[in-house]
Amino acid sequence: MDLHAVLAALRQGSPAAIPTETVYGLAANAENEEAIRRVYTLKNRPLTHPLIMHIAPEWDLSPWVTAVPGYARKLMNAFWPGPLTLILPCRTDKVSPLITAGQSSLALRAPAHPLTLQLLRSLGAPLVAPSANPFGKISPTTASHVQEAFNATDLLIFDGGRCRLGIESTIINATHPEGYQILRHGSIDADTLRATVPDCEYHAQTTLSAPGMLPQHYQPSKPLYCFSDLQAMTLFCKETTRQPFVLSFEKKARFPEYPGYQCPASPAELAFNLYYQLRKADASDAQCLVMELPADLPVWQGIRERLLKAGQWLSSLNLQDFTQRF
Ligand code: TXA
Ligand code: MG
Repeated sequence: MDLHAVLAALRQGSPAAIPTETVYGLAANAENEEAIRRVYTLKNRPLTHPLIMHIAPEWDLSPWVTAVPGYARKLMNAFWPGPLTLILPCRTDKVSPLITAGQSSLALRAPAHPLTLQLLRSLGAPLVAPSANPFGKISPTTASHVQEAFNATDLLIFDGGRCRLGIESTIINATHPEGYQILRHGSIDADTLRATVPDCEYHAQTTLSAPGMLPQHYQPSKPLYCFSDLQAMTLFCKETTRQPFVLSFEKKARFPEYPGYQCPASPAELAFNLYYQLRKADASDAQCLVMELPADLPVWQGIRERLLKAGQWLSSLNLQDFTQRF
């Protein structure tokens, strides 16, 4: 599908799948409420889950937000276009409550994919775009993932190749004038944000309703069990009656009898491969997925957070568990 066809569809109020550097989005013109409704319906997403508005990085934000704190401006200058979403106080008289789920805050991000930037600039209007997957499932990092998920519909898909980063953007609550709070971890980690705007992060229970923080999300169709203890993981693989697919940092040699994937040691490389490999594992003959959690360090938080929502963390195991639970 070329730019002109996608532009025409968006102008007419049809949704279209668009590439971003993180994951594919299911986009609609943010100024067309009917189109936004179609996105919720296609995804089977409850209307209570607000959408990120995507813009070009140079656009003036004053039509949509009432304030941009100084630290937020610095972060935008440093990371836009890129995988950082900022939640800002919204001009509720100008932005549809369908986008914000009726809240007084709006999530904004300037994506870094060249085709989508070109699309935004040609359209001259923002695009709302949740990840292009059925609600709660694994996000798509290729056009064919989107195709598989929405097979039965005539959704337009703008193929921009495989997403360069592979996990969704970092989301911060930037509604507070003094400092931000991380709501969803991503490729831009806590240390990187802190290095750009020192002493601005606060940790507290958020007052925003950010349903991406639901305990379950990003789920494969087969059960996924996560381990931080390799011994427990080895025991699990040996004892379970279900054929496992093993995603591990350990040399494959340790789990030679199972199909699997050896995770790369770099967070960026694993993020790039994470959803791709989970989908492969899900599509394999295996009956469950077993994954070693990366270390509890800031650089791995984006990946850890997704795995812990996608699966169940078995922090310790004993043999009785097998007769009772697996
Ligand atoms: O990388 C990404 O962020 C991708 C690409 C397509 O841009 N988009 C994405 O959208 O991950 P989605 O809808 O799958 O996740 C956005 C998260 C949701 O958990 C939503 O609840 C939260 O952002 N969110 C959006 N607007 C919000 C708001 N005003 N207040 C609080 N949370 C908000
Ligand atoms: Mg999503």
